[in-house]
Amino acid sequence: MDEIRITGGRPLRGEVAIGGAKNAVLKHQVATLLTAGRHTLSNVPGILDVALMCRVLDYIGAECSLRDDRLIVEIPDELNPEAPLDLVRQMRASILVMGPLLARCGRVRVALPGGDEIGARPITMHLDGLRQMGAEFELSHGILEGVAPGGLRGADVVFDFPSVGATENILLAAVRAEGVTTIENAAREPELVDLAMLLNHMGANITGAGTSTISITGVSELQPANHKVVPDRLEAGTYAVAGAISSGHVRISHCVPEHSRMELAKLEESGCEVVRGDDWFEVTGPERPKAVNIATLPFPGFHTDMHPQMVAYLSIADGTSVLTENVYEARFRYIGELTRMGADISTDWQHAVVRGVERLSGCPVEAPDIRAGAALALAGLRAEGTSAISEVHHIDRGYHRFVEKLEALGADIERKRSSNRDLS
Ligand code: EPU
Repeated sequence: MDEIRITGGRPLRGEVAIGGAKNAVLKHQVATLLTAGRHTLSNVPGILDVALMCRVLDYIGAECSLRDDRLIVEIPDELNPEAPLDLVRQMRASILVMGPLLARCGRVRVALPGGDEIGARPITMHLDGLRQMGAEFELSHGILEGVAPGGLRGADVVFDFPSVGATENILLAAVRAEGVTTIENAAREPELVDLAMLLNHMGANITGAGTSTISITGVSELQPANHKVVPDRLEAGTYAVAGAISSGHVRISHCVPEHSRMELAKLEESGCEVVRGDDWFEVTGPERPKAVNIATLPFPGFHTDMHPQMVAYLSIADGTSVLTENVYEARFRYIGELTRMGADISTDWQHAVVRGVERLSGCPVEAPDIRAGAALALAGLRAEGTSAISEVHHIDRGYHRFVEKLEALGADIERKRSSNRDLS
């Protein structure tokens, strides 16, 4: 298995360019299923999840080709409306094919995803919303079979939590449904707004994306997509913390600072200097951060996918920080690994109490998921000695050229390859 080795202690300096957002492009890939033809997506990151979603689309009958940052998807007239277990297991976002396939084919078969390393992650809201639109589901032997006997029709869907995936599944189903669909308490994430923009460019009629109420008037025809993916605010935020934790000075370019407003505000509160431009920002890290309290929330709140990185950073703060995780119930599994590096953190239910220590020390650690993997690497930038991070395929799921980008900023980092596999 590949591993990433980092020897800490070097302040990072320089500029890092951000790629397209994982959590947008995966949905854009799924959106191509809504109509036959040749779709083009640009600013596509060369990450493992994009390749996995291409495999899902291939299984359904599409042809995908990724060259540099441009992804071409050819969607045929006839589709095989299925997402098999091995792909859904590897990437839960595969279940987003439900909405478009029900809309296009009137039926769908997907493996029901179980929980994963960050929580149980049920999909009840997806299914309830689709049922309201006329779909019927049956679960048998772990496979969900959905049909829409009379076609999908508009409905008033009210979520009890602004789930990103449920909002997207309903959005993707509603653009070709009969009549008007309203989603109340919708997710407001920038990636979802980008999906609505893509769909509107394809000919959909969506208003209100980015607010809590989205209205979709179904249309009978769409054109193939041609769209540039919004920058990845999680990649941007991760490199911002890399600058901060190493007491360095990093310029993050090709990003949207407004999309990281809360995360940057917390970095400033901890003693970082942050300068914002139109599509860039610069972070100068303090010698040692001040403790800050953080509560994760749906957008525009502090992003749960920046929680592990911030905990790594606050582990060397002067004082005690409390992080409250409000989105996932099991996101603290990586804390044991940080503790092995010398962090002093205890957890109680949804809270992590992070008592800042003066130094971390490098050791072998295991990446349990994408963001926690990135967080352990960030801790390694600060730690004395060498850290060796295993299970780095998790990091590959969400970060393109992670090692190369950190190396270009001056980190003492290398990837030890167990084979010649190259994801870029
Ligand atoms: N939830 C339910 N029932 C549902 C749907 C969601 O209880 O029917 C719960 C989930 O269990 C979770 C919470 O609601 O506790 C939030 O889930 P949400 O549906 O909003 O998340 P998601 O669509 O499954 C996306 C991102 C995640 C990111 C979350 C929150 C993608 C592919 N994934 O997941 O990204 O954490 O939104 O912003 O877009 C990552 O990139 O590392 C990642 C995990």
